[in-house]
This record gives sequence, C-alpha cells and structure tokens, in this order.
Amino acid sequence: MALQAASLVPAAFSIPKEGRSGVSLRDSSLLGISFPDHLKIDFSSSTLRSKRGFKQRVGAVRAQTIATTTPAVNRAAPEGKKTLRKGSVIVTGASSGLGLATAKALAETGKWHVIMACRDFLKAERAAKSAGIAKENYNIMHLDLASLDSVRQFVDNFRRSGRPLDVLVCNAAVYYPTAKEPTFTAEGFEQSVGTNHLGHFLLSRLLLDDLNKSDYPSRRLIIVGSITGNTNTLAGNVPPKANLGDLRGLAGGLNGLNSSSMIDGADFDGAKAYKDSKVCNMLTMQEFHRRYHEETGITFASLYPGCIATTGLFREHIPLFRTLFPPFQKYITKGYVSEDEAGERLAQVVSDPSLTKSGVYWSWNRASASFENQLSQEASDTQKARKVWEISEKLVGLA
Ligand SMILES: NC(=O)c1ccc[n+]([C@@H]2O[C@H](COP(=O)([O-])OP(=O)(O)OC[C@H]3O[C@@H](n4cnc5c(N)ncnc54)[C@H](OP(=O)(O)O)[C@@H]3O)[C@@H](O)[C@H]2O)c1
Repeated sequence: MALQAASLVPAAFSIPKEGRSGVSLRDSSLLGISFPDHLKIDFSSSTLRSKRGFKQRVGAVRAQTIATTTPAVNRAAPEGKKTLRKGSVIVTGASSGLGLATAKALAETGKWHVIMACRDFLKAERAAKSAGIAKENYNIMHLDLASLDSVRQFVDNFRRSGRPLDVLVCNAAVYYPTAKEPTFTAEGFEQSVGTNHLGHFLLSRLLLDDLNKSDYPSRRLIIVGSITGNTNTLAGNVPPKANLGDLRGLAGGLNGLNSSSMIDGADFDGAKAYKDSKVCNMLTMQEFHRRYHEETGITFASLYPGCIATTGLFREHIPLFRTLFPPFQKYITKGYVSEDEAGERLAQVVSDPSLTKSGVYWSWNRASASFENQLSQEASDTQKARKVWEISEKLVGLA
C-alpha cells in the first residue's frame, strides 16, 4: 500500500493528457487535476423562471419573476428601507474541510445565516469558534447522515426552528480507501453510498418543500460532486474507476448479506464505493433538475471544488499518502486548492447571482474562474439517473 502511494508521483509524470487512460495507479488518490482553460466557459446566468406550480404545496403568491432583480424584502425594515434579509443556508458536514470553509466564507459576508448540520456537535462548535465565525451568523444542528431516522429528525427540528430554507448544501462525505471490509449505516447500507448518497438523497427530498416555500430570490440545492467520479478525466481514470453497472447491488440494498455492498454488485472496494457515491450525487442533482427546476424555479447544481488535499477526507488513508498527497497536488499536478479557496468556490455556487443556471456541474480553471464542466457519460446518463432515483426512494422509504 505504501508503495502504491509512493508511486503516485512518477506514474503521474508519464500521463500525457487528461482524459487519457492507461494510468497504472491504483487508488483512492483523488488526483484532482485542474481542467484546461479551453474547456467550455459559460457564465450564462439563466434567469429563474417564475413558474410556481409546485404540486404538493403552493405557497402564497409571490411577485417574483427574475431572481437576480427581485430581492426578498425584509418587511420589518424601517419605512423606506427595504433590505434583503439574511439568506438561510444548511451546510452538511460543516465541522471540517470544505463545509467549514464554506460556512466561514458565507458567514463573513454578513448576508448569510449558516445552519451547520453536523454529526458531532462539540467538534462543530470548536471548529466554528476556531474559524472565527461570529456567533450570530451560525447555529449547529445535529445530523447523522448514516441514519435515516436522524435525517428525518433533523428535518423536523429544522422546521420547528422556524427558519426559512433558502439554500441546501449537501457536502458531507466519508471515504474509506483502505478498508478491507465494508461497514454499514444504521439501516444496513454500505457506509459510503449510505452516507454520501442515500442520507443526502432523503435529506434533499424532504427539504425540497422547504426550499420551495422560501421567498428568497435564488433558491438553490447543491450537491458536492467530484472529479474522481468522472471517468472523462485523468483523476477519474485512476483505478478503481467509478462504475455503477446495472445497479444490481443498489437494488439489493447494499447490505452485504443477500446483496453485494457495492452498487454494481461486485466485491467491496472502499475507494470505488466513494467514487460510485459521487456519481450518484451528480446523477441525483441532474434528476432533481429534470423533475423540479421547471416547476419550482429552484437551481440545482453540483461542483468539483478542486483538490483540497489537506482535508479530513483523507483521514483513513495511510500516513505516507497523507504526507505526499498535498505536495504532489501542489507542485506536480497543480490541482491543489486550499480549504479557504475551495470554500470561496462553494460559497459562490451558493450565492453568486451569475451562477443561477440549473443542472450545472461547476468547476474552476487555473485562474479560479468558474465554468460549466462536462460530466462523464455515466455521470450524465439520464436513464441511470432515473433508475438511481427510483431505487433510492425505495431504499429510504419514500416510495
Ligand atoms: N478533499 C477533496 O479533495 C475533495 C475533492 C472533491 C470533492 N470533495 C468533496 O467535498 C466534500 C467535503 O469533503 P472534505 O474534503 O471537506 O472532507 P472532510 O474534511 O472529511 O469533511 C467531511 C465532513 O462530512 C462530515 N460527515 C461525515 N460523515 C457524516 C455523517 N454520517 N453525518 C454527518 N456528517 C458527516 C464530517 O463530519 P466529522 O467532522 O464529524 O467527521 C465532515 O464535517 C465531500 O462531498 C467530498 O466528496 C472533496
């Protein structure tokens, strides 16, 4: 294993071009190469539609047609002073890494109240304090995505809090690249897909109603993706590659007993399970877009924030990997981004008026400019997205 990690640097030198396979690395490595600048750059900020025909709950009529020009107004503001109220955003996994940096970036603007949805309350509180997030700009609510009961409890608690929901960021994730055996969530799903995909799937499905009720100008549901799930990239071609196959393992419940713990029905592989879960995240975002964007006007988006080689995501990796990975990304692939920079990127997807286009997978070029990136064939397969959606809703008890 140590040798595999050590082989990262020289092997990567021999790869001429992103998107070409023939890479002999096995991992878990999240190489995170930046996309070349010539890839499609489109800042088209499609205006939000005024259609509000959301079937389940139709809220009060809103005189809102174009999101970026029609701010929600704080009616309690002093006469003559109409101010945009603070946005209210839930960020899952805000206790470290990208989630924490995003919470910080949003809170610092003074325009957002961040609900840090975390499984470890004390850790989250300490993290918020040490990041210097002002008390009035956040609160912490318990959420364990590895338990569907906890997800439902979180949604109940959030609703009881009386806060509006303007943006939901599904960011939390686990990654077990060296695990020999699968571990399972409370409901018995393999841990990576259970947490990263199924937990977020239930959360976002339940909170869609809340997003739809918000009167904020631009309501968004963001599911963090990854380059590693995209086999049209160099990083996505590092074995084991993401591959959902015919979804037989997912359909069987990923329980490792009467079905495989892997989505494609194969033997357990922790690194692949993470990549598969990221494909599910990106497919889910697109399926949300197809099903709900027209009728709700909500923006659905995913992103690859860059390779944030220092985060806790790599905590389960071998020490040598954790030592070599950040300098490798910084100096060899140049795909490295700091946690702060990645947090600014995700905060942009939350709040930038020019990023309201729905159904987009955002990336950033070397000049840190955002662009609409291409997803791999599998990560943009509409049939597969629909099947993943339908199976997932059965697994989480929505169908
Ligand atoms: N790092 C990268 O290079 C990279 C690249 C592409 C995409 N991403 C994506 O970025 C996102 C954030 O990852 P990161 O790099 O910031 O990793 P990280 O520092 O490990 O953050 C992951 C967060 O998820 C939380 N979490 C894990 N299991 C949870 C559960 N069952 N319930 C609730 N929260 C849970 C963790 O909570 P604890 O603090 O309690 O452990 C932590 O706050 C992930 O979606 C990842 O796929 C990362």
